[in-house]
Amino acid sequence: MNIYTFRDPGQLTGEVCKYINKIARKSIQKRGFFSLVLSGGKTPKALYEKLSEHDFRATMPWRYVNLFWTDERYVTKDHPESNYGMAFNAFISKVPLPEENIFPIETEIEPIQKAALLYEETLRAFFNEKRGQSELLPSFDLILLGLGKDGHVASLYQGSPVLKENKHWVRAVDAPDIYKIRKRITLTLPVINNARNVLFLVTGGDKKAILKEILKNKRPTDDIYPAQIVKPSGNLLWFTDIEIKEN
Ligand code: 6PG
Repeated sequence: MNIYTFRDPGQLTGEVCKYINKIARKSIQKRGFFSLVLSGGKTPKALYEKLSEHDFRATMPWRYVNLFWTDERYVTKDHPESNYGMAFNAFISKVPLPEENIFPIETEIEPIQKAALLYEETLRAFFNEKRGQSELLPSFDLILLGLGKDGHVASLYQGSPVLKENKHWVRAVDAPDIYKIRKRITLTLPVINNARNVLFLVTGGDKKAILKEILKNKRPTDDIYPAQIVKPSGNLLWFTDIEIKEN
């Protein structure tokens, strides 16, 4: 399993930026574009800020970068809990990324189910235009994922019926009641698992227990964490500041 541990937060985000740049250049060389799916929450904020810093701002092939989201809270883009809003403030507003390359989940659409369907149509249209087929699952070049302390990824929570979704690419969900914003829209597992590369970014001592549990991967199938169902056809990498090996 590809686990990369960096105790220094700056080095960790720098290494992830280098990896994003590497995959971007490889994807553009092969297919003429790079499709990058951003995760939300707090963890990736430092990474996104790093992307806007001079070195990466200058070297990323922004013109060919296309941005999507793994999930979104059902709030307006200027809401403090918006994943789009966090990424916009952290780097999108600071880099030369063409506006037509940015595909946020449109949370102003009501009801939420319609917003989810619209995002699925957006993905179909994008991949139809880029590869002439809209029926096949989207094959994103790189999906960034965080890890919830409860083992969730995107807005896919333990025990959710959406974990078994195998028709729709995007679904509206209700997060468990411990979450401030419960109404969310998320990519489904078939889409995540069809990615060429999936990178988990997990930081902070409060994630040590869940990360060890996930990597141990010994839970019974009927009690598995969503993060353990992420088994992409492509590469799966973990970048963390958490020392897992007990010395
Ligand atoms: C979201 C994220 C979610 C996140 C985890 C970890 O919208 O909240 O996409 O899946 O990655 O909840 O969140 P933190 O980084 O805030 O711990």
